Amino acid sequence: MKWFHKPSSAPLWQDEFSVFTADERYVTRRQFTKFLTLTSLAMFVGNLWIAVRAWISGRPSFPRRAVARLDEIPAGGVKLFAYPTAGDGCILVRPAPSTWVAYSQKCTHLSCAVYYSRENGRLECPCHKGVFAIANGAPVAGPPRRPLARVLLEQRGGLLYAVGMQEGEGA
Ligand code: FES
Repeated sequence: MKWFHKPSSAPLWQDEFSVFTADERYVTRRQFTKFLTLTSLAMFVGNLWIAVRAWISGRPSFPRRAVARLDEIPAGGVKLFAYPTAGDGCILVRPAPSTWVAYSQKCTHLSCAVYYSRENGRLECPCHKGVFAIANGAPVAGPPRRPLARVLLEQRGGLLYAVGMQEGEGA
């Protein structure tokens, strides 16, 4: 059997491997639209997944912990406790017979420990004379600009439970 090479301007290898790259690279409008749609959909689903995971993991979970008996602190009294971890000092105050409030002891200025001033009916920071309202932890004097983080309390069965923390809003 004889092989004859048909004269052509193309090199021999192109005749023998007739791959038409221009045809292969050609993308129809429909294919391009499908590609864009699927890519956009995949990116949207990926971003949605990232957002949902960030939202779930970003929500802090707080333990529920008994911090005091209702009759443990007299009106005008104070109890110190740690919440949510052993390193987070908090202050529970009973400013009136039927009122209990609790805050993080960490001053929002430079993190000194605040204390309750019964005479003035407010929380005070000894470091730079910062003052916070006892009703809501809002800064009322001195350098602090943000409220104290509030410990959310719940009464049940003669006990006060810490159930969460509410960060003070920025001023
Ligand atoms: S640390 Fe509390 S006022 Fe500065």
